[in-house]
Amino acid sequence: MIVAPSILSMDFSDTKKAVEQLEESCAQWMHFDVMDGHFVPNLTFGPDILKAMKKSSTLLMDVHVMISDPLKYAPVFIKAGADIYTFHYEAVESVEKIRELIAEVHQMGCKAGISIKPKTPVSVLEELVNELDLVLVMSVEPGFGGQKFDPTSLDKIRTLRNWIDERHLDCLIEVDGGINGETAMLVKEAGVDAVVAGSYVFGGDIKERCASLC
Ligand code: DX5
Ligand code: ZN
Repeated sequence: MIVAPSILSMDFSDTKKAVEQLEESCAQWMHFDVMDGHFVPNLTFGPDILKAMKKSSTLLMDVHVMISDPLKYAPVFIKAGADIYTFHYEAVESVEKIRELIAEVHQMGCKAGISIKPKTPVSVLEELVNELDLVLVMSVEPGFGGQKFDPTSLDKIRTLRNWIDERHLDCLIEVDGGINGETAMLVKEAGVDAVVAGSYVFGGDIKERCASLC
């Protein structure tokens, strides 16, 4: 299982220590939550923090943008070090524009992901999954860490797993929100490839908490 700790819950009073512990853990990705205070009612970090994380960590930068204009900011975060640029289906006005953004992300040498909120049906991705490197299934309403896992995400994961396996696609399934030792088992059984965990990982011994998910 790929473990992607979300730095939204990191202790920013001592990032050096937290990043060192992540480096020593079994985590392979760093989940970087970008929020603009408009698409979601919270505001987090920009490209300069991503650059700093990229400089201090060997983890793959799994950038999740919860912003209203993901087209405009794709080059900004890719230049700053994103290895995967995941934007929200709900933030782009048409499938054509989504296809345009996926192509642009690929042209910049970055992997492209799409995220769907809990209320968005997985059916909207039935065609798009063929063009994506990752689908991020939100198991909480985006905007804040520490929320309760929404089990309706399990059926979405199963559906995606079937499409990807039947079509022999390279697309990864990642789940984000309320992941802990217990819910990680549920989503693993449903067929995810990667789990995001913020409050669970940074709310205890980072290495131990990551190990319980790997
Ligand atoms: C929420 C973010 C998640 C969040 C996960 O909008 O996208 O990545 O940080 O936090 P936990 O694991 O605490 O639910
Ligand atoms: Zn996230």
